[in-house]
Amino acid sequence: MSKTIAGFSKLTKAEKINWIVDTYFSNSENAKGILKQYWNTDEKLQQLHDEFIENTITNYYLPLGVAPNFLINDKLYTIPMAIEESSVVAAASKAAKFWLDRGGFKTEVISTKKIGQVHFIFNGDFEKLTQFFNTIKSKLIKETKSITANMEKRGGGIIDIELRDKSQDINGYYQLHASFETLDAMGANFINSCLEQFAKTFKREAQNFDLFSDLEKQIEIIMSILSNYVPDCLVRAEVSCHVDNLTENKNISSRAFAQKFVQAVNIAEIEPYRAVTHNKGVMNGIDAVVLATGNDFRAIEACVHAYAARNGKYSSLTHAKIEDDTFKFWIEIPLALGTVGGLTSLHPLVKLALELLHKPSAKELMQIIAVAGLAQNFAALRSLTTTGIQEGHMKMHLKNILNQFEATDNEKKTLTEHFKNNTVTHSAVVDAIHQLRAKN
Ligand code: MEV
Repeated sequence: MSKTIAGFSKLTKAEKINWIVDTYFSNSENAKGILKQYWNTDEKLQQLHDEFIENTITNYYLPLGVAPNFLINDKLYTIPMAIEESSVVAAASKAAKFWLDRGGFKTEVISTKKIGQVHFIFNGDFEKLTQFFNTIKSKLIKETKSITANMEKRGGGIIDIELRDKSQDINGYYQLHASFETLDAMGANFINSCLEQFAKTFKREAQNFDLFSDLEKQIEIIMSILSNYVPDCLVRAEVSCHVDNLTENKNISSRAFAQKFVQAVNIAEIEPYRAVTHNKGVMNGIDAVVLATGNDFRAIEACVHAYAARNGKYSSLTHAKIEDDTFKFWIEIPLALGTVGGLTSLHPLVKLALELLHKPSAKELMQIIAVAGLAQNFAALRSLTTTGIQEGHMKMHLKNILNQFEATDNEKKTLTEHFKNNTVTHSAVVDAIHQLRAKN
């Protein structure tokens, strides 16, 4: 029976676990055992993880895999990927190897602008509000000096603040729309602190602005928060080769494959049902590296899909064409990432992942992650347009079932051979295991 509890957060970890297992599990000792099985024996390391969030009862593991052989702007990388889905890392590795032999990936950061907004209500004359804003704009920036000093020393800071009129959408609604350069930090704390200071200065100064009526002086701040939509924090990654070099597949000519591939991308460009799945495949690569490097995958996801729909219709993040016998495949994607701050110096595996990537700047990480997305999409489209996706998946499915049944190496060998010519279904594999075991 479920029940409510007061003061849960105040309980010790052991007390929290006791309450959970006693309240929700018929076999409470077993449940407790599973939770404890995932604790780290190094108490300090466990405490570090406990303190990342609130009410921690155990750790939730994801595998960390690596995809080697990524040649990006003539530099080699092995890319760390944290993901639970089978085949993703294998697909990335295959795509990396494929393009390694064809000049690798070329990338470029197009822009790095981050955005934050103060949303407020003003009842009055917009002309006067504009005049007020222009009068105090420099003060808004000056009063954030203690927050921005360090960032400015390194070459970042506030780029600009604009006053935006949204009163046609909501009565009296306006914004301070600010842009920032946050260098190697994702910048959420920096931006939010600046915005909250803007809001304070703005509200206070309105009360002293002589041209405002008493009503106009009462600006109401609704909220101050960064925007995770960063269409001007944009990176591009591309691969290209002569059409004749696009495949060694014996069942399809290189040119026919190139054309089919471009068609597959065109379909994702115009058909939202396909675009969502197509982009999901892109995000298999992107999220896995975002997670491994301790970045905020929810922010990335929210932004990327808004960007994919920026023209009013959800569409593909990648594009492809054949021009003068050259096959070109590219992605342009907004990625707000950090390589300092946040988890990057706290989580030992994140530190390790960043070191594996040659300790990249945020700009370099944008390029690496865009490549991971492009590579993943290339691998998916290559199998979809040739063998179909199930061939690879079924191999993994077979492996998983064999592991579930704790098959020996010999059993695995025999059954893998058997299923080269037989369709993999759960029941077919289970039957085959039983038959094999009955024989021996
Ligand atoms: C599966 O996780 C991802 C794919 O469905 C992507 C795609 O269809 O392009 C294979």
